[in-house]
Amino acid sequence: MGTVTPKAQPGNPKPRMFRLPQRQALINRMGFNNDGVDAFVANVQRAKWRGVLGLNIGKNAATPIERALDDYALCLARVYPHASYVTINISSPNTKNLRQLQGGDALDELLAALQTQRTALAAEHGRRVPLALKIAPDLDDDQISAIAALLQRHGIDAVIASNTTIARDAVAGLPHAEEAGGLSGAPVFEPSNRVIRALRRELPAAYPIIGVGGIMSADDAREKLAAGATLLQLYTGLIYGGPALVGQCARAAARAAREGVDAAARAGISPRVSDAR
Ligand SMILES: Cc1cc2nc3c(=O)[nH]c(=O)nc-3n(C[C@H](O)[C@H](O)[C@H](O)COP(=O)(O)O)c2cc1C
Repeated sequence: MGTVTPKAQPGNPKPRMFRLPQRQALINRMGFNNDGVDAFVANVQRAKWRGVLGLNIGKNAATPIERALDDYALCLARVYPHASYVTINISSPNTKNLRQLQGGDALDELLAALQTQRTALAAEHGRRVPLALKIAPDLDDDQISAIAALLQRHGIDAVIASNTTIARDAVAGLPHAEEAGGLSGAPVFEPSNRVIRALRRELPAAYPIIGVGGIMSADDAREKLAAGATLLQLYTGLIYGGPALVGQCARAAARAAREGVDAAARAGISPRVSDAR
């Protein structure tokens, strides 16, 4: 769920989401439209869902990028007790300058601060909630290895690859192809697999990589796992495949898991504390 920001914000003016059915793709520039973290947490507390719940945090559009840490820190503190894991989203193309947080020094500082804060939150709440960093598919190999090194240096538990792409080569010439925003669905499948493969080369075999981007079928889910993903997420596939896609992918993943990998356990992701009651 998310991305949530400290304060409520309207997101970008509509229209802000476009279908490109010829390529099973979407372009969106929603811009983190949300009611703010307090309303978000109230919703989470009312929810009946008792499975794994990832809560995804970001910064308000009005917060200057130099103050981004304040927003992430505030959101982390608020969502922490309610999350199975928390995603730090630094890869949306729809918040100005957000993706520059993926760069060396900025990322070093952000992860160091959030890791220190997590240690304090773990003591306060008696539970260490895993942190996952969500990155863009538009990164070169050097940027990916720098990120992999920082993930390990700061004890970040997982990486999510990937967010939407700003590339348009796969949809050139189609209606809406030139809309600003992030491209998702089938065209981001290979770019996100490339990032997953590069991360897997740089990270220990047991390090959880959550694979997302262009999973439109059970075969895609299997291929994502083969590229090195430990766990899977999908979004645009729901538009073109409907909710049945989730079960199809879960069964494909379960078959892959029976081949020797208990992915969720390996990721250290367990249901919320309240589930145990
Ligand atoms: C309409 C829409 C809104 C999205 N909003 C967010 C968001 O708020 N935070 C985030 O981390 N990713 C967001 N994403 C990115 C997706 O979570 C996912 O990383 C990306 O779309 C690639 O996966 P897919 O091809 O399965 O959709 C959004 C994607 C779409 C299509």
